[in-house]
Amino acid sequence: MSEETAPYGSGSGGAPASGAPPIKRIRTQHLREMKQRGERFSMLTSYDQYTAEIFDEAGVEVLLVGDSASNNVLGNATSLPITVDELLPLTRAVSGAVSRALVVGDLPFGSYQASPEQGYLTAVRFMKEAGAHCVKLEGGVEMAPQIERMTRGGIPVMAHIGFTPQSEHTLGGYRVQGRGDAADRVLRDARAVQEAGAFAVVMEMVPGDVAAQVTAELEIPTIGIGAGNRCDGQVLVWQDAFGLRTGRMPRFVKQYADLRSVLLDGARAYDAEVKSGAFPAEEHTF
Ligand code: KIV
Repeated sequence: MSEETAPYGSGSGGAPASGAPPIKRIRTQHLREMKQRGERFSMLTSYDQYTAEIFDEAGVEVLLVGDSASNNVLGNATSLPITVDELLPLTRAVSGAVSRALVVGDLPFGSYQASPEQGYLTAVRFMKEAGAHCVKLEGGVEMAPQIERMTRGGIPVMAHIGFTPQSEHTLGGYRVQGRGDAADRVLRDARAVQEAGAFAVVMEMVPGDVAAQVTAELEIPTIGIGAGNRCDGQVLVWQDAFGLRTGRMPRFVKQYADLRSVLLDGARAYDAEVKSGAFPAEEHTF
């Protein structure tokens, strides 16, 4: 049995739907093969060792150490302020914790747009210093030179088109991209990133029919977030998906758990027991 197909040790998730042999470690080509077999895959953000371990065990194929750590971990209002130096340790925590999932390092705003060389050198840091298996960058046609440079230099690139949060001020806020005539732009971006060598492409806030057209046309897998259910994969920010973040959510978010309530109940119980003297009890005492 090869290293690539040996069954993984723990967890029940991740068994292929098609009867294909289980994959020990997800590589970029496995996502393409899944697309060819008509199998869907999942991706979640992760920014720390424990969520990485849990999502990996659950069978999630791809973990994205997103620049969304900026507004989901570091307390910023948007993804723009996070730096490479802030994102590298989070990426290292995730890549060190997984045994199966593909780990994507997200290139922060300003760390690759200036030139292909700047982008390449930043991507190298994610691979060498943080153990990322590949990187993600935002942009379509205009990022083709960056994608070419990175792939030529041995770094697999996931592209991100449609609504690209790093350009929210250029795009005029959080809004669906590719409606009506603008669908052409999404198609051109998708073709350009594939042509440049991207191994997959995230499509964010794109009408479902446009995303379906891109998915049918491209050979590389598409990953939707607010792009309907005809993409090859789906991604959500984990704090949204599992209810750690509450309040107004984008329409494309589905909440699968209510972690905020679980933690709130736990913290209240702890607080009450400390204040009443019930904790620590005899069994917690040396
Ligand atoms: O940083 C991030 O979380 C992302 C996803 C929304 C795709 O880019």
